[in-house]
Amino acid sequence: MTPARDPRSDARTAIENLRAWGVEEVLVPRRISTRRTPAKTGSGKAARLAALREEIGDCRRCGLWTGRTHLVFGVGDPEAEVMFVGEAPGSDEDRQGEPFVGRAGQLLTKIIEAMGLGRERVYIANIIKCRPPENRNPLQSEIGACSGFLRAQVEIISPRAIVALGTFSAQTLLGTDEKISRLRGRFHPYQGIPLMPTYHPAYLLRNPNEKKQVWEDVQKVMALLGGREPA
Ligand code: URA
Repeated sequence: MTPARDPRSDARTAIENLRAWGVEEVLVPRRISTRRTPAKTGSGKAARLAALREEIGDCRRCGLWTGRTHLVFGVGDPEAEVMFVGEAPGSDEDRQGEPFVGRAGQLLTKIIEAMGLGRERVYIANIIKCRPPENRNPLQSEIGACSGFLRAQVEIISPRAIVALGTFSAQTLLGTDEKISRLRGRFHPYQGIPLMPTYHPAYLLRNPNEKKQVWEDVQKVMALLGGREPA
């Protein structure tokens, strides 16, 4: 069994992360849900996700299966209130079978912790589930073969908010070619759920000055979540 987390140590980590980001002022939502997974076992979401994973199976619906080590389905709490969606697995993710575990993933983990959450309390997935060669952008045919599974994951989890990480994720989910710099900072509807586009953590590694903008975006997500009594 996973040991219970100490909320004070979680808060300390969040504050340290924020300082490292150069953030001096924080909008703290009135309430953020303290709900934990065990409160809602029996909703059937975990079983439905497992059934979906089984349906995907040893997928050969597009050509990417030939180069993969692992199919990267998604990870996190089936009851999550927030879902993060990236582009596609990179080499670390392909090797480990889990999304966002490389350098960009470590930064995403810090962002999630700065939100007062932990990776185990959110759900993380990608537009496509297998690594494209040389980390090229996924092809339309690959997206067509795969994106229905992400749609099903969103439908099962039905989070209260989605964060689309980077240009590719935001443009694909919203069906637009508008620039991420114009899309970010406000919510857009996706399957009836508010979706906040923001910069990809890999972009932030190259452009650390943009971290403040991402922090502004995720604060809007926190404010949205904080607007309701805990379940
Ligand atoms: N970048 C992504 O978009 N997804 C991952 O899982 C890792 C890096």
